[in-house]
Amino acid sequence: MCGIVGYIGDTVAAPVIFESLKRLEYRGYDSYGFATLHNNEFFVKKDKGKISDASFESFPEMLPGFMGVGHSRWATHGIPSEENSHPHLDCKGNFLVVHNGIIENYQELKSELKRNGHTFKSDTDTEIIPHLIEEFAELGFEEAVKEAVGRLKGRYAIVALSRNSDKMIGVRRGSPLIVGIKDSDKREYFLASDIPAFLDHTNNVMYLDDDEMVIIDKNKRSIKFHNLEGKEDVEKRLINIGWEAGQAEKNGFEHFMLKEIMEQKDTIMRALSQDEKSIESMAKEINNAFGTFFTGCGTAGNVCLAGEYIFSKVAGKHINFTVSSEFPNYHHFLTDRTLLIAVSQSGETADVLEAIESAKKKGVKIISLVNVMGSSLDRKSDYSFLINAGPEKAVASTKAATSQLALITLLAYACAGKLNEGKRLLIETASKVNDMLNPRYEKHIRRLAKKIHRKDNLYIIGRSLNYPMALESAIKIQEVSYIHAQGFAGGELKHGPLALIDKGTPCIALVAEDEVKNDVISNAMEIKSRGGYIIGVAPENNEVFDYWIRVPDVGDASPIVNIIPVQILAYHLAVLRGCNPDYPKNLAKSVTVK
Ligand code: G6P
Repeated sequence: MCGIVGYIGDTVAAPVIFESLKRLEYRGYDSYGFATLHNNEFFVKKDKGKISDASFESFPEMLPGFMGVGHSRWATHGIPSEENSHPHLDCKGNFLVVHNGIIENYQELKSELKRNGHTFKSDTDTEIIPHLIEEFAELGFEEAVKEAVGRLKGRYAIVALSRNSDKMIGVRRGSPLIVGIKDSDKREYFLASDIPAFLDHTNNVMYLDDDEMVIIDKNKRSIKFHNLEGKEDVEKRLINIGWEAGQAEKNGFEHFMLKEIMEQKDTIMRALSQDEKSIESMAKEINNAFGTFFTGCGTAGNVCLAGEYIFSKVAGKHINFTVSSEFPNYHHFLTDRTLLIAVSQSGETADVLEAIESAKKKGVKIISLVNVMGSSLDRKSDYSFLINAGPEKAVASTKAATSQLALITLLAYACAGKLNEGKRLLIETASKVNDMLNPRYEKHIRRLAKKIHRKDNLYIIGRSLNYPMALESAIKIQEVSYIHAQGFAGGELKHGPLALIDKGTPCIALVAEDEVKNDVISNAMEIKSRGGYIIGVAPENNEVFDYWIRVPDVGDASPIVNIIPVQILAYHLAVLRGCNPDYPKNLAKSVTVK
């Protein structure tokens, strides 16, 4: 959801910014722009389209200077176009801003600024920010930015430059903004929406909190943080985040999505490397809470729903799942004895953050399962478990989902007082996933993709623990291949979806060796009797299957192994249909707007 970067250093800034932006492209990819500052002059280049399709050969001539900013856009206000691309400038071209988020009161501010004589070139909400800074220009750059952001409502992160200053200013309220610091001869500074932007240069970071401003001075090579409420010089720790540059690269794979699917050989094990005492004490919190909820969005939401089933089955506990965007509408019975478990890969999804903020107002305790260390969710939770999956860059979440599933399963076993049994099961599952993910297996699934890639519709059924995985399968297939895919609880078929089945309609049945196995097989039979083409994802073959994809029998960990072949299928369907699975149209990885 829009990527922003900033750089100050001894290297010509534009190529550094260009490469950083490419690494943030997963956040938004309909247009891009960048600007450098040199000898009190701005040099700006922006365009419609993907930054990875752009090529620039004469950077120093075109965009000279050692400080600058960049932006990769996911349109919210105004179509993707050169005019609407960031950076945006004020009337006189003295101030320049890149922005991620939404300014909720931009219409009223724009009318006010127009009345004051400002003229606008774009349809964006962002453009009001440099004009507001211009309004306060006589206070000096820092104060002008402070006054300007004081007028804004909404969630945002911005980076601003002034033509007459050597300072770069970043402000954060609700959208991520991280500082990367490289200690070379002279310090180099990076500002970015996400860590992979500068991972090539450094993995030492400082996090901005909400309502904080960072001021980086190019001449002094100094950095200071201010609280917007006036408290000067907030102290920050330099944190080494432990990720390496290679983890955010494709490493020989054609797409991040396939690379990340294959990484599940290791990531499930990494999710399990948790401090046992913390697992036990969180299990105690869950057992003692008076009402526990799960919340998350998209794939993480489906993982939460699976968690609801896993806790019910393994620990005999009822945990309610509510999608994060609806959670604030569902708060009436929350108390200070309620527990909320928030699940999010990025830890920056606006709906998740709103959900926890609304719960916190009622004194609810927050536990989170998150991949990105230092993300907003990580820092705003009372306790957070890092799933340790490493950077996930494909928009479609794969390895993060199975890591979240593994950790939730472990927590459920701990709540049942069977932590060691849970650990054994999951270690065995991780080792079976390692066996599954071989080239022969992938080829077998690709063969299936070739058979069905021209179909318009695809349905998935599952029951019990695998009903949420039917929903997740549908998301995976829809988002990367654009085939209309829908997941159902097997028992719901006869209440409507059966009417959609025609001769040859592909239907995936997610089967495990559990108490609902025969029911799912019967549902598959009902589909087959109406002409459906049955794809069985199951530990054992069955006469109802037209195509069988074997998965290991791993008991209550079946959601983990059943979703993996569907991830691979979704990937190959996308590629065969000519879609880029890493950059699905209209979507973005980290959705930092409501
Ligand atoms: C977006 C992504 C999904 C992801 C969801 C939640 O919609 O495209 O892949 O599942 O956000 O993201 P989170 O970072 O909170 O897990």
